[in-house]
Amino acid sequence: MSSHLRFPPGFAWGAATSAYQIEGAVSDDGRGVSIWDTFTKRPGRVVGGHHADVAIDHYHRYRDDVAVMADLGLSAYRFSVSWPRIQPAGSGAFNHKGLDFYKRLCDELLARGIDPWLTLYHWDLPQALEDAGGWPERDTAYRFAEYALCVHDALKDHVHTFSTVNEPWCAAFLGYASGEHAPGRREPDSAIRAAHHLNLAHGLAVRAMNARRVGGCVNLYAITPATGSDADLDAARRIDGLQNRFFLDALLLGRYPEDVLADLGMDTGFIHDGDLATINAPLDVLLVNYYSRFTVSGAGGGKASAAAAPTETGSPWVGSEHVSFVNGGRPVTAMGWEIDDAGLLEVLQRVARDYPAIPLVVSENGAAFDDVLKDGRVHDAERTAYLDCHLRACREAIDAGVPLQGYFAWSLMDNFEWAWGYGKRFGLVHVDFETQERVLKDSARWYSQIIRQNRRHE
Ligand code: NOJ
Repeated sequence: MSSHLRFPPGFAWGAATSAYQIEGAVSDDGRGVSIWDTFTKRPGRVVGGHHADVAIDHYHRYRDDVAVMADLGLSAYRFSVSWPRIQPAGSGAFNHKGLDFYKRLCDELLARGIDPWLTLYHWDLPQALEDAGGWPERDTAYRFAEYALCVHDALKDHVHTFSTVNEPWCAAFLGYASGEHAPGRREPDSAIRAAHHLNLAHGLAVRAMNARRVGGCVNLYAITPATGSDADLDAARRIDGLQNRFFLDALLLGRYPEDVLADLGMDTGFIHDGDLATINAPLDVLLVNYYSRFTVSGAGGGKASAAAAPTETGSPWVGSEHVSFVNGGRPVTAMGWEIDDAGLLEVLQRVARDYPAIPLVVSENGAAFDDVLKDGRVHDAERTAYLDCHLRACREAIDAGVPLQGYFAWSLMDNFEWAWGYGKRFGLVHVDFETQERVLKDSARWYSQIIRQNRRHE
């Protein structure tokens, strides 16, 4: 167990959530409609027909939830702001009642000595902007920058670190290519346009806000070719290109990888002169979400199909249709995702090696398991083991010279897991979705101990 693991003083000990997954209160205080409100009401899109109208009622219970964070000893909390709460129609009037909620939340966090890490976009686009074309439309990026500036001006004295778009790969490819996520479109070319406009939105927002501390957020995978064959090596290059380098190169180097553009073979006129310079805005930190490794093969063709692929509805890897995902033979979580802490070390070292020096944090890492609540306890030894080995990977990364400044467990509490509804529990804290009762799982108690042992020396 990591109990003897020491991290440098000032290391951020966090947990993360996002607005739509926890807040509920979808009609309170003038909130507008988001693409997830619409998507969840469409039959067959979310397992069990679940939606997040109530979710875990964090909007009304935020004080108690911050008290839980304080009990755990967290030094940082990563949450997202719901765009339709702040700007119900995605453009035009701002809703001060919405901003006030996040002010109250930040006040509560600061009073407990917890640093607020604010994410501006965690997938809940105002429906009005989707009606106007959504992320495939360039205008959405400009609307985002306006919204970001408003949130920044209202909360800049409260927030420790602003970050822009959570996992742009998911927003683009699950939203517009596989259709597994809102808005549920299956238009491969639109997904590429969306990816570019999400990157552009990031750059425009960073430049508009001129924040004291700002970061971008990417979801990175370790990627291994199934064999050393040319076809498998090429498959790994393609998946790495679209999943990892398309975003890292744009944000940190100000260019798109030539091989990815060539693979796509599409008209890229939507990438305007100067866009990449805008996207390559100076950052203070890169937020890395890490969950798993993909083992990929170029042999046999066909769609992404095996358990390791993160979608069931088709390949979101536009331009890589001949790639398939193979079972790497590792134990899996309840999501079917292979557990591979070595992949986290690999990903962190790779970013530190291949990109200009930038501090990193692991902004999401965690696992769903089929937890059982019995006699007021959840003995989730598998989750503890998952967190333990990934924290060890973080420590190794630091030893190897990676400028890693923090770790955020996903998630603070069980919540609405997108297309999976409430069936997949990622929380450190168990939530009874009927009564809203919160109960610390064994993993939360363990994490809390690690945090306390480390913070004692600060
Ligand atoms: C990444 C996303 O940011 C988060 O919203 C999601 O719940 C977790 N991965 C787990 O799938």
